[in-house]
Amino acid sequence: MEKETLRLTGFKDLQLFKRGKVRDVYDLKDKLLIISTDRISCFDVVLPTCIPHKGEVLTHLSLFWFEFTKDVIPNHFICAKIEDFPGELHKYKDILDARSMLVKKVKPIPVECVVRGYLSGSGWKEYMMSQSICGIKLPAALKESDKLPQAIFTPATKEDVGHDINVTQEFVEKEIGKHLTQKLKEISLALYKKARQYAETKGIIIADTKFEFGMHEENIILIDEVLTPDSSRFWPKEQYKPGGAQPSFDKQFVRDYLETLDWNKTPPAPELPEEIVKKTTEKYIQALKMLVPNALS
Ligand SMILES: Nc1ncnc2c1ncn2[C@@H]1O[C@H](COP(=O)(O)OP(=O)(O)OP(=O)(O)O)[C@@H](O)[C@H]1O
Ligand SMILES: [Mg+2]
Repeated sequence: MEKETLRLTGFKDLQLFKRGKVRDVYDLKDKLLIISTDRISCFDVVLPTCIPHKGEVLTHLSLFWFEFTKDVIPNHFICAKIEDFPGELHKYKDILDARSMLVKKVKPIPVECVVRGYLSGSGWKEYMMSQSICGIKLPAALKESDKLPQAIFTPATKEDVGHDINVTQEFVEKEIGKHLTQKLKEISLALYKKARQYAETKGIIIADTKFEFGMHEENIILIDEVLTPDSSRFWPKEQYKPGGAQPSFDKQFVRDYLETLDWNKTPPAPELPEEIVKKTTEKYIQALKMLVPNALS
């Protein structure tokens, strides 16, 4: 892999649809061009340092999962080969290659469809306060990172600013209707279960993940990114030990390093040393190689 690190795109002749923390998305009328850059965020702040190959790894993983899950639910993926992109994009081949995909543009359903199989993050926080998550009552005396008796659907609102907010299923039903909520719940759980089962055989625990859906010609389709370390918690199965936080597959070195600094977790974030960057790239690549047969070979 000889690819230049990419921090930001600035295609003046294209219409920017959205610049997220990690991805740059361009509007191509009925389609979107989604580009995964090498930006990394930690504690919700984008760092000034990039992680080489991160964008490629994320793109590759999403592509793998779109194919893997397409029998559960159709998705927005159209193509990822530059030759198949509209001609106006061909001049950006060097930048786009292996880190971008063309997708169907749809109306997103305004719900973050979170599925949790393990007790962690905001789920753990909620559990400690109320023994429940998003209104779902859980057994008593669970420890942090414990496996839940069964995977649960714990939706959140999509917030433009700040963190997403966990809500109950009833709240979602009021927003988008009972029938659609039930469908999204069933699809999300089915996607998670299929992926989790597979990942476990490859040595990775998918502790939780978030899906987004949209409507395309009256049908629900899976959109955004799927089952990447940016939208999910990946834990190395070998080191799994409930009763505390788990090492994560991607940002662990970054988090650990940042915790050693006197930084208050608000922008601007500090630069990362070369050693941390190198180890982080290795982690991302390791996750990809473990999950995707013949990746990068
Ligand atoms: N096929 C699609 N059609 C329409 N919108 C889409 C499609 N796929 C993804 N999106 C939307 O594109 C946006 C992608 O933005 P992105 O995820 O990069 O940033 P973000 O979610 O605002 O911030 P973050 O950096 O926290 O992820 C999301 O709002 C997502 O809902
Ligand atoms: Mg997003």
